[in-house]
Amino acid sequence: MDEYREANRALWDAWTPLNFASKFYDVEAFAAGRGGDLDPIARAGPGDVRGKSLLHLQCHFGMDTIRWAKHGAAVTGVDFSEEGIAAARALAARMGVPATFVHSDVYDLPAKLEGRFDVVFTSHGVLNWLPDLERWARVVARFLAPGGIFYIVEAHPMMNLFNDRLTEPDLQLLYPYFRGPEPIREEHRGCYSAPDAPITSVEHVWLHKMSDIIGSLARAGLRIESFDEYPFLSWALDGEGRRRLVAAARARKATVRPRQPAADVLAEGHSRLPHVLIRERKAAIARPITAGESSWMK
Ligand SMILES: C[S@@+](CC[C@H](N)C(=O)[O-])C[C@H]1O[C@@H](n2cnc3c(N)ncnc32)[C@H](O)[C@@H]1O
Repeated sequence: MDEYREANRALWDAWTPLNFASKFYDVEAFAAGRGGDLDPIARAGPGDVRGKSLLHLQCHFGMDTIRWAKHGAAVTGVDFSEEGIAAARALAARMGVPATFVHSDVYDLPAKLEGRFDVVFTSHGVLNWLPDLERWARVVARFLAPGGIFYIVEAHPMMNLFNDRLTEPDLQLLYPYFRGPEPIREEHRGCYSAPDAPITSVEHVWLHKMSDIIGSLARAGLRIESFDEYPFLSWALDGEGRRRLVAAARARKATVRPRQPAADVLAEGHSRLPHVLIRERKAAIARPITAGESSWMK
């Protein structure tokens, strides 16, 4: 498993400078105060965070962590990419926003970070990088204060099943929903924020069922307060995939679901694919994580 982790970490170390420099993230506008706020669904989830402690798992280079800080939370961001954490620290310092960033694999965090948080947050492109949701959920539970809220906004597992590299004007099923624990290995040229960048990268991703996501959190002692599914995604897919999926949605609208407005399925310039949101509250008693469980899956 370490082999996959190291490959994925190398990939994120390589992608981070590309993302940081990209129009996709537009860090310059963000640093100048012209960037967008949190995705409204994510923003609404934990409620008023003023004065609350917030742990942001898989924070990348910290843009959303900084956004939460601007909303008044005392924030700690975590990521296993050294490049990501270095960029996050530099960005927060440049913007004069107080934030703590911890360089750690999510699975190793209990050995690296003390304390508990009012809010644990994670979003938009996180679960596919994790091989074991049971262990992940126990890490979440470990860091929640009693009564604290865990909030996740993530692409719908269904979205991962389709092949967006083909030219057919319709979605094509590529993977079964009930897939085993083995990772999918994919090779890419460039990066989602910079498809023409002269790099080749290999990623290992895992497909998780909805029941694994919800069930792992429930088994870790969290109580589900709400669970929603939306017919849109809050970030644009990479150019080719987005274009094809938009075309697919249009074809579908014309043939299969004539009464559904296109905007409810996909909209040009802003991909609208399903994503999922779960809000969980930590019960007073949750099974604590043990030391042996906190390192990367063996
Ligand atoms: C798509 S990005 C998440 C973007 C994030 N929502 C944001 O605020 O920008 C995925 C992140 O997960 C991180 N990551 C992947 N596997 C990880 C792991 N096992 N532990 C910690 N971070 C991990 C990557 O380094 C990357 O920054």
